[in-house]
Amino acid sequence: MDTIDVIDALMTTRAIRRFSDRPVDPADIETCLRAAQQAPSGGNVQPQQYVVITDPDVKRSLGALYQRAYHRYEAALPGEAAFDDEAKAAAWRRTRDASRHLADHLGEVPAIVLFLQPIIPWGADDAEGHMDIGRLDASVYPAVQNFCVAARALGLGTALTTVVRIHAAEAFALLGVPSRADGSPRFEIAALVPVGYPAGNFGVAPRKPAAAVTHWDHWGNKHT
Ligand SMILES: Cc1cc2nc3c(=O)[nH]c(=O)nc-3n(C[C@H](O)[C@H](O)[C@H](O)COP(=O)(O)O)c2cc1C
Repeated sequence: MDTIDVIDALMTTRAIRRFSDRPVDPADIETCLRAAQQAPSGGNVQPQQYVVITDPDVKRSLGALYQRAYHRYEAALPGEAAFDDEAKAAAWRRTRDASRHLADHLGEVPAIVLFLQPIIPWGADDAEGHMDIGRLDASVYPAVQNFCVAARALGLGTALTTVVRIHAAEAFALLGVPSRADGSPRFEIAALVPVGYPAGNFGVAPRKPAAAVTHWDHWGNKHT
């Protein structure tokens, strides 16, 4: 198995939304899912379930749902007029064009992985009231990111997406995801992740420098 250094994989795991036609070996997806399962979770509850979709008809139907969700979402976004400088507007346009491309082609991506989390009570109560120990999502997204970084190490591109949540009920009906006896959902979608070999190259995505958002020992003490 050809892989890359962990730090290189982390630095170059970014949203890949354009894929080549090269098929993905299901064994590679299983490797990424094993890496996902090693992620931490509160109390080690490991709440997530995965649905891997490779069947062309199911991908097409799910792709159509995603496309409908994305186009509704995009139409509600503020638009590039919201940016005061051209560089930011151009970056916004690139992300929008890539997101739209994914939305219009999701059904053709080699594989799609849905990360589901159960809708369950979370946290604990005592005589003093409810204790906030964080949200259940915090126990699912580490698995999603492990999956994406493992995929990157194997040369596979991914993108963490959530917009399909707009049509979660239809996605669950398509995939046979069970609901409760009263018809209410048992699960919610934490992420929909397309998987395939990138049409372009991996690279380090632009980000704020870590030093700009890091405080040492006391708020405001920054290493510049
Ligand atoms: C919680 C979350 C939800 C996201 N939802 C979507 C989505 O629905 N569709 C999409 O194309 N990208 C989605 N993204 C991807 C982000 O747009 C992407 O991570 C961000 O623009 C940085 O991209 P880069 O790593 O290529 O720079 C989502 C990312 C996160 C973390």
